[in-house]
Amino acid sequence: MRSGSKAASSEVALTFEPEGFIIRARSGDTILDAALDNGIDLPHECGGNCACTTCHVVVLEGAEYLSPMEEVEIDRLHGADGWTPLSRLGCQAILGDGSVKVRIVESEVV
Ligand code: FES
Repeated sequence: MRSGSKAASSEVALTFEPEGFIIRARSGDTILDAALDNGIDLPHECGGNCACTTCHVVVLEGAEYLSPMEEVEIDRLHGADGWTPLSRLGCQAILGDGSVKVRIVESEVV
């Protein structure tokens, strides 16, 4: 669900490493939504509900264009394989007005 208080969404570039796929995404979408809309296979075991860590990505560029982390995302990421200070959950990070590059983190699904 998106708020109607912002101006119309704009297109931004979203790059997925290590494959180097570049997609045109809409500001206001999550990284996960943008990935799935463009055929990028970003895992999402809990359906985007911040209840797993399979959508874990590391932000390589453009972190300033993503929504700030909420407490629930920080807590969830604490247990993630391959955590780094630039880790985000793709289902929680909302794209803003600039280009972003992320690396998909492979995680063990148990
Ligand atoms: S899809 Fe489960 S936390 Fe993002």
